[in-house]
Amino acid sequence: MSLLPAETRPDNSGRGLSGGRGDDGLRNDGLQNNGPPVNPGLPEDFSSRIRRRGDRAPAPPFESWETKSERRSRHVLFLEDISVSFDGFKALSNLTFYLGEGELRCVIGPNGAGKTTMMDVVTGRTRPDSGEAWYGDGLNLLELDEVDISLAGIGRKFQKPSVFESLTVWRNLELALKAPKTVLRTLLARLDPGDRDCLEKTLELVRLTDQAGKPAGVLSHGQKQWLEIGMLLVQKPRILLLDEPVAGMTPAEIERTAELLLSLEGGHSLILVEHDMEFVRSVAKTVTVLHQGRVLAEGDMARVSSLPEVMEAYLGLEEE
Ligand SMILES: Nc1ncnc2c1ncn2[C@@H]1O[C@H](COP(=O)(O)OP(=O)(O)OP(=O)(O)O)[C@@H](O)[C@H]1O
Ligand SMILES: [Mg+2]
Repeated sequence: MSLLPAETRPDNSGRGLSGGRGDDGLRNDGLQNNGPPVNPGLPEDFSSRIRRRGDRAPAPPFESWETKSERRSRHVLFLEDISVSFDGFKALSNLTFYLGEGELRCVIGPNGAGKTTMMDVVTGRTRPDSGEAWYGDGLNLLELDEVDISLAGIGRKFQKPSVFESLTVWRNLELALKAPKTVLRTLLARLDPGDRDCLEKTLELVRLTDQAGKPAGVLSHGQKQWLEIGMLLVQKPRILLLDEPVAGMTPAEIERTAELLLSLEGGHSLILVEHDMEFVRSVAKTVTVLHQGRVLAEGDMARVSSLPEVMEAYLGLEEE
């Protein structure tokens, strides 16, 4: 099943809304964890900048009973009323978004909906004009810069893989593991057995064990994407942001990527922005649809894809 009927599907530069694995029986409980939540905590440096909001409250029986502070306290990340303007154009308009611990959230929406801008706000790349953005047990993301946010456990993968092509796959992972030390110190540093174990496990997870000794430059596009995901994983992020990770991958690579992301769910919180609806359908529990800088719909894929306003948002794009 596709989001839109075949005859009404826009063609977003081949990234398409086509296809589907007919997997409509997905749970609508994206705020629950599927595995034991891993809370790697925050580096010591941040403890003084944390404002405690109290212990996490259990989820109430009905969401409507929840107060704002209860809702805040049971999410690892939230944005409230975030607005971003570029020369008067509102890229985000009072955007409110909550992410649960260990949740894999898919964010979809037509081109220009504000998906990447939302990630830019979370990672400190773009400062909003107004609104609030909080992470973990009380870190105000709007007071941190990009480096601090990354050190605090929010990793981001951009669409284009950025690996060191002339270095081996292993060395790329090693560099990522030792970050933020300088490259020179990292190259000179020796790995301790724990580090070696971490790299080996990560290689296995991203299915690159056999490529460990090869230069990253000879990897396929999909393998480079996995290597970059591996480079983020060795830093043990609490939240991973992935912007269109399967663009340009072969169908087999897309399927493997879905397996990889599903294996990360529970241990990490993930925000996955994607245009490939078949892929989204294969991994999604809860989907957030952005349009014109705000949340248009949220729920399981079957529900949001049947909403007239969602279809209209994609159709509107086609008519432009
Ligand atoms: N630095 C910028 N300066 C001016 N306008 C910008 C800037 N960044 C984003 N925009 C505009 O903000 C809007 C939202 O852009 P954004 O990249 O967040 O959309 P998106 O949902 O990620 O789209 P796509 O699916 O094409 O990647 C677009 O109209 C875009 O042109
Ligand atoms: Mg984008």
